[in-house]
Amino acid sequence: MKPASPFLEIGADAGPCVDVTFEGAPLRLTEGANLAAALLAAGVEVFRHTKTTGAPRAAFCMMGACFDCLVEIDGVVRQACMVEASQGLRINRPHEAEAHDDPA
Ligand code: FES
Repeated sequence: MKPASPFLEIGADAGPCVDVTFEGAPLRLTEGANLAAALLAAGVEVFRHTKTTGAPRAAFCMMGACFDCLVEIDGVVRQACMVEASQGLRINRPHEAEAHDDPA
């Protein structure tokens, strides 16, 4: 029987997987899973760094409110918790250059 929550479907027995990259590293994620949850489940702990201090951020609210899950997907900055994992996504941390130039 299929679980009621999509978060319970992430993992080795969850069904078909898709191949994506995060910062150029290959990852296999559960197809159709919430991208933020799938990245966390795959061990990604830092989605982005803040522009002002370079502090690390990752998914927090999982409902589109906090914007801590921002990632660059195929060149467009989006909220990972609002995207489904699909084949071929090229995911990167946004604002990396600005964070490294920040004097703080
Ligand atoms: S985790 Fe808060 S907006 Fe995505």
